[in-house]
Amino acid sequence: MDNNTDAYVEMLPCGHREALGQYFTPTYIAEFMADWVVGKRPKTILDPAVGNNIFFRTIGKIYNECNMIGYESDEHIFRFFSLGQFNIFLADFLTSSWDNQYDAIIANPPFSKFQKIKDRAELIDLCFKHTNIRLAGLSNYCLYFFLKCLYQLKDGGRLAFIMPYDFLDGPQGNTIKHFLLYHNFEISIHFLKYENIFSDDIITTAAIFLIEKSTSHRITFLEYYSERDFRINHPTNSRTLSCIEVESLDKWSNFSFFTKIPQNVVPYHTYLTAKRGIATGCNEFFLLCDEAIKNYHIPYECIKYCISSSSFYKTPFLTNETIIAQEKKNKLLILNAQNSNLAKDYIAWGVSQGYNQRYLTANRKIWYELGVQTPPQILMACTTRNKINFIFNESDCLYMTSYHGLYVKKPWLQYIKVLFCFMQTCFAQNLLRLQSRDIGHGLIKMQPNDLNSALVINVEVLERNDIKIIEEIFDEAHNNKFFSEQEILKLEMIFKMYLY
Ligand SMILES: C[S@@+](CC[C@H](N)C(=O)[O-])C[C@H]1O[C@@H](n2cnc3c(N)ncnc32)[C@H](O)[C@@H]1O
Repeated sequence: MDNNTDAYVEMLPCGHREALGQYFTPTYIAEFMADWVVGKRPKTILDPAVGNNIFFRTIGKIYNECNMIGYESDEHIFRFFSLGQFNIFLADFLTSSWDNQYDAIIANPPFSKFQKIKDRAELIDLCFKHTNIRLAGLSNYCLYFFLKCLYQLKDGGRLAFIMPYDFLDGPQGNTIKHFLLYHNFEISIHFLKYENIFSDDIITTAAIFLIEKSTSHRITFLEYYSERDFRINHPTNSRTLSCIEVESLDKWSNFSFFTKIPQNVVPYHTYLTAKRGIATGCNEFFLLCDEAIKNYHIPYECIKYCISSSSFYKTPFLTNETIIAQEKKNKLLILNAQNSNLAKDYIAWGVSQGYNQRYLTANRKIWYELGVQTPPQILMACTTRNKINFIFNESDCLYMTSYHGLYVKKPWLQYIKVLFCFMQTCFAQNLLRLQSRDIGHGLIKMQPNDLNSALVINVEVLERNDIKIIEEIFDEAHNNKFFSEQEILKLEMIFKMYLY
């Protein structure tokens, strides 16, 4: 950031900037966007959310044959950066006229969650009136800017936006995704899948959208896993897809896993149900240390082993012994009191600390009862950067929200080794990624329903002999407590014959 912007950030409380979505574009990204929008020598350029005026300052250095028009609704920032001396209005862009058309538009629109948008219903109606697109009520503030700007872009004009891309991965973005696919836009979306893109340490996804209103429609996706890769124009993956192909992509940010959907697959919910782990609502109280157990005389009946963090277990096989070995290093005991008399001093202490008044505890019938959880046969870590990890669970411990428990339905228990082996393969990983959500900073997350609807091999098509080989590989890995590379390769060769 430049010195002026640093001074502004220092001066204002973070709350003010957060409320207005004031996160500033780094110079190298502003230069990339500016280079692209001036490429067709525009006569007019709009910035609907000027802020520190980075875009017009950057454009001014490389191109000055155009009229630059801007909007900024916050008086503080408007005065701080003396925006009044330029052709910039102190006004709300979203309620300004929709009539003007621009040759180029460049923006880092404010991103605020839907709960913070005042007059949401009116804005939705306004967008609908002009574009026939009804934005979902859950839409982020930036999408209103995006839609209005796409509308105000002249034919042949260019638009560059940087904003979160979650809407490309969830149902709230369906209407706008449809709009992008079936109007004449040539689009490239640069997914920035690395940390600390904006100076504030906000966790958000970020992508640069470069869009030209043209006569063809197709989409190029690119993804970068480091700032360096972006700066040297070296995407880790890139792909141009037709609109029909993009339509079959449930989550656009997963474009790199776009594969022909294999044959002989069924959804996971055919065989199992994924369930969330325990949300205690107050880990300070429920996760126990030896000292609390001793001081409050908490009896053995009230204590259970529990997996609380997904980074503890590297082995794909979990037994009570593995957990006990880990317990020395990590807090793994959880209060499981069904009877207040047994741990009454500790529970009374919890009340004295107000732990019974937390959101989740206050909403339970009995605030300290976590409910009954049966151990699942398989555990799945719900966030990851790399491989989605599955653990074959032979322990009787409880699990918290960093894992989902997979409960294999009775008739399919006979195939559990086959299902678990399939989960180790690249095919399973690719199919799962199609359903996963990108939550920013290169992390992906899977909700229980993402797994339930993801695709898995149809075990009924497997020949007896292949099942036998797969089960032998499982048994060998189980003995050794891990799958070797050769074993995974062998599994992939077997499954591939059925999938492709
Ligand atoms: C994310 S900042 C971008 C600032 C700068 N253009 C950049 O790229 O670093 C968005 C700016 O839009 C302003 N803003 C928020 N709502 C607005 C609205 N309805 N109309 C115009 N500007 C708005 C905020 O005050 C903020 O300065």
